[in-house]
Amino acid sequence: MDKTVSLKDGTELRIRFVTRDDLDRLLAFFRALPEEDRQYLRGDSTKREVVERRIQDMEAGRVIRLAALDGDQIVAEGALELAGHEWTAHVGELRLIVARAYQRRGLGTLMARELYDQAAKHKVEQIVTAMMRPQVGARNIALKLGFREEIIVPQHVKDRAGRIQDLILMRCDLEALWREIETAFTLSDWQRTR
Ligand SMILES: CC(C)(COP(=O)(O)OP(=O)(O)OC[C@H]1O[C@@H](n2cnc3c(N)ncnc32)[C@H](O)[C@@H]1OP(=O)(O)O)[C@@H](O)C(=O)NCCC(=O)NCCS
Repeated sequence: MDKTVSLKDGTELRIRFVTRDDLDRLLAFFRALPEEDRQYLRGDSTKREVVERRIQDMEAGRVIRLAALDGDQIVAEGALELAGHEWTAHVGELRLIVARAYQRRGLGTLMARELYDQAAKHKVEQIVTAMMRPQVGARNIALKLGFREEIIVPQHVKDRAGRIQDLILMRCDLEALWREIETAFTLSDWQRTR
């Protein structure tokens, strides 16, 4: 997967699979994120060994990873984690993070669309996404993309600052997601500039 996309304001970016050569670019991306946005990431992605492990998981086929690039700089990263065991082999987990300067310009939606496409190719039937209660942006984009809140586990996870938070698990089946996202594109002015 390697394509050029246009944001709502016409900025052209490239979205492609992450490769091993991206290790330093990914590190630079994660290290530049504001503490506030890094707060809810699962590992400390500012550490080389953590990013290295993510690349290994990708190479082993456990995760599909996409990056959006502005020139040579990574400005967003998205992942579809494949469960890989029988009970949940049909389920994929979506994770998305966009650099501050690129947020609210449609990039999260474009990345999600590419990840749905990958999910369909890998025969994933349901996509889940998990977040902590304060992640208002993440919740809103998920609702817009057809996810529905399924489970709230009160006081279940800790953010990177060690504060206990509610976990919100959202889910959607892929067919419904496609319907929602096509509607979102059709209704938007952005459709014309895409
Ligand atoms: C969540 C995230 C991936 C969204 O990416 P994005 O590129 O900004 O998403 P889009 O521009 O495609 O937004 C799609 C829709 O999601 C909703 N949304 C996105 N960010 C939002 C925010 N901060 N607050 C409220 N709604 C938001 C809006 O409905 C938006 O549509 P609109 O801009 O036309 O109103 C991105 O903000 C991110 O990486 N955040 C990191 C940290 C995080 O989780 N923050 C949450 C706390 S605010």
